[in-house]
Amino acid sequence: MKSSMAVITGASSGLGLKTAEILARDPRWQVVLACRDAARGDAARRIVERAAKHPVLVAPLELESLTSIRAFPAVLDALGVRDLGALVLNAGVQDIQSMRTTADGFERTFAVNHLGHFLLTELLEARLATDARVAVVSSNTHDPATRTGMPAPHFQDGRALAAGTDEGPDAVLAGRTRYTTSKLCNLYFARELARRCAASHDARVRNWRVVAFDPGMMPGTGLARDYGGLIRFVWAYVLPVMRLAGSNVNGVPLSAARLAGLVTSDDARWPSGAYISRGVVTEPSTEARDAQRARDLWSASEALVAGGRS
Ligand SMILES: NC(=O)c1ccc[n+]([C@@H]2O[C@H](COP(=O)([O-])OP(=O)(O)OC[C@H]3O[C@@H](n4cnc5c(N)ncnc54)[C@H](OP(=O)(O)O)[C@@H]3O)[C@@H](O)[C@H]2O)c1
Repeated sequence: MKSSMAVITGASSGLGLKTAEILARDPRWQVVLACRDAARGDAARRIVERAAKHPVLVAPLELESLTSIRAFPAVLDALGVRDLGALVLNAGVQDIQSMRTTADGFERTFAVNHLGHFLLTELLEARLATDARVAVVSSNTHDPATRTGMPAPHFQDGRALAAGTDEGPDAVLAGRTRYTTSKLCNLYFARELARRCAASHDARVRNWRVVAFDPGMMPGTGLARDYGGLIRFVWAYVLPVMRLAGSNVNGVPLSAARLAGLVTSDDARWPSGAYISRGVVTEPSTEARDAQRARDLWSASEALVAGGRS
């Protein structure tokens, strides 16, 4: 059976790995695991290929590095990958202990969670097929009204976020604030990309379906790796049990099945531009619906990837 190709970023663990496994089991899909670490990528490939219907491909991608992202299309060429049916922008970090700066001079959370994916999408646009799907993994932590326990995002402008000069109102919570702000940026990016596609004169682009996805809280993934020992223990052992008690906590397999479903299904319940929170089309926060902000972030991101921080 002829298959479509899906690139999944952050496919070495957690949500990305499980989503890759589910997609690869579907004979209509072949997966490219975009991973920053070769050994972890290879370990992921061995897991995914157990039930895969097509060869599982691994492609190096370090989202901290504009150079690595720019090299990615050539990596796909070398693997023989041309047309893409889906792009799953899933990789993410949460730096809690201290602010980290990438070699390109950007604050790392913003660089990995938003800016790297922005550039990657720009570089892969020409390869996306007529009915391609782009899924941007965001989070309900972008919305203070959902009371996730995380601080509200603090967005002023893309350049300040890239420079790491905008840490929010509480220095102690700065790392968490940078994370929730990056997840707000994911929504701005997805909504603005969907708007641009819908307005495009190119019929191929007009047919793309771009969605933002909230997997819900999925304890046990690698996302808490920068937290202290006690929180990591609760994340790994206590919260997963709360899921069994019916709390608002999701398992990775359920969230991954929902994310894979956005790629594989033609379901009209998921129109382009939608925000899908735990499987249901949901209104994002008022702040996330600010279309001018989305356009501003897009312009800032274009300038940042073209010319760096200054
Ligand atoms: N867990 C939750 O409760 C939750 C809730 C809402 C949203 N999310 C979102 O879900 C997504 C997946 O997170 P997860 O929970 O599955 O966490 P995870 O297990 O830590 O997975 C994160 C993935 O991103 C990759 N990654 C990190 N930095 C990277 C970089 N610089 N370049 C390329 N890849 C990089 C990691 O690669 P390595 O294996 O090499 O580190 C890993 O494959 C994230 O976007 C996160 O914001 C998670």
